[in-house]
Amino acid sequence: MIESLRQVQVVGALARLARTGGWADILEGRPLTDELDVADARLLVAAQVLRESAGGRLEPVDLHPWYDDPQILAANLVAELRRALHHGHDEDRLTATDPDQILAMGVASRSVAAILAEGVLPMLPVTRDRLDEGRARFLDVGVGTGAIAQTICETFPGTSAVGLDVSFEALSMAKEHLAESPVGHLIELRQQSVVDLVDEDAYDLAWMPQIFLSRADLEVGLGRVRRALRPGCWLVMPVAASADGCTPLEAAALEHDAVLRGGGPMSVLCAAELLREAGFARVRDMPGVSQSLVMAQAA
Ligand SMILES: C[S@@+](CC[C@H](N)C(=O)[O-])C[C@H]1O[C@@H](n2cnc3c(N)ncnc32)[C@H](O)[C@@H]1O
Repeated sequence: MIESLRQVQVVGALARLARTGGWADILEGRPLTDELDVADARLLVAAQVLRESAGGRLEPVDLHPWYDDPQILAANLVAELRRALHHGHDEDRLTATDPDQILAMGVASRSVAAILAEGVLPMLPVTRDRLDEGRARFLDVGVGTGAIAQTICETFPGTSAVGLDVSFEALSMAKEHLAESPVGHLIELRQQSVVDLVDEDAYDLAWMPQIFLSRADLEVGLGRVRRALRPGCWLVMPVAASADGCTPLEAAALEHDAVLRGGGPMSVLCAAELLREAGFARVRDMPGVSQSLVMAQAA
């Protein structure tokens, strides 16, 4: 119990170091001089987040996708702490409109978008060719701040996008953010639920994260997205399914998170079943640490 309570203190120390530049100093091998930075780092060593090498240099014990970028690390950890605070107050519903939460999810989406663009899309025939030829249209369901649509349009010049979201707050932030982007004019933002999407044969790629969608919206939305995709093109859907071999605490934390975000946990098998029921022809999956990616091709 005490050990678990200490984790809040540890996450707070890590978030602060990331925000104030101490984490960047650690990554670069520069010594910490500020008294609070040193206290944070000592706590992180004791918690086995950091270790001290023989030469006295501090370094992270594990690899983590957030660690390389202090801005991403700070934004995500502060969002986690804020979410825990809301949860402690039984105020989860507030987080859907909380600008800090929307922003943090947008920052997190930047690294997801890079993985999508560089690691996933090259494996998807038809969609990959359209993106490479510079004539693709991308559907981003739950566009949030627009980070994923922006990355796809930047990475594949000539691509345009439509971003759907039900949240007025998220769309306002996306509009503001994209106004400063050179690809902003290529991204159409719509305040629309995926269940109301009526486009047909209009997109070469769709992105729809299951963890944010209620089960009812997901089931109807899959049919809508299938019809909206051009034949042979792909939907990529992150699913809140933990990878084989993760610890019971990691699995329980993912399930808890998925309930709080609205979609709830879902196995890859269940996702594949829903995709087939919605009329998708081929389904593939790629296990991940916190979520798994399921990819489905429209017939
Ligand atoms: C947190 S965002 C994901 C982050 C986003 N990729 C970014 O770049 O900022 C997920 C969004 O899904 C939206 N959402 C939830 N249900 C939806 C639905 N039925 N149709 C469209 N968007 C929905 C939420 O309002 C939320 O803004």
